[in-house]
Amino acid sequence: MKRSAQRYMLTSGLMTTLVMCSASALSADANIPQAMPLSIDDTPFSSEREAVTWRRDELKDLERLLRQLRFDLVNNQDARGAAPRLSELQARATPDHFLPAFIEGTHGRGSDARPNIWEEWDEFAAGFQDLEDKVGILVDAAEQEDYRAATRAFSDVGLSCRSCHRAYRYD
Ligand code: HEC
Repeated sequence: MKRSAQRYMLTSGLMTTLVMCSASALSADANIPQAMPLSIDDTPFSSEREAVTWRRDELKDLERLLRQLRFDLVNNQDARGAAPRLSELQARATPDHFLPAFIEGTHGRGSDARPNIWEEWDEFAAGFQDLEDKVGILVDAAEQEDYRAATRAFSDVGLSCRSCHRAYRYD
């Protein structure tokens, strides 16, 4: 899977487009919700099965990363040590990162995803946007070495995970 190459081409294409747009068009573009992938052709994956496995592994990694970060920031108060992991979290906890793996209809065997994801796509996508926003607050708190704010931000991130799971994941 040549994800990085595809992503690079996508990014450089996007950059060219953005450079040609005015500042106001640019902020409007950023608000266009990401389209639901209807088949693997809309994604970098080579099969639906691969997409399901990828998203599950990736979510488990996210959970692990957050646990390590909580240790760095809440227990050790080590914002400098946490910085590389925070950038990794920020790059991955986004709609752009996750939504391509939620190809329409990929619930059922081997997945805990609920089928209403694809009936309520915009709400589902908004869940990953909320996660990205909450992670942004955590990153700001860490940059300011405000460990109390970081502790609060961790619980908000946790709430964001859980509120999506309640609606869109079987437990
Ligand atoms: C917008 C929705 C959404 C958000 C936000 C979200 N998840 Fe999930 N998560 C899901 C769905 C849907 C599944 C089931 C995926 C599947 O099995 O196909 C899932 C599954 C998981 C799994 C189980 C993976 C496995 O293989 O058993 C873990 C762990 C997980 N999420 C952790 C998290 C953590 C940690 C966060 C927050 C940092 C989070 N998720 C945020 C929707 C979400």
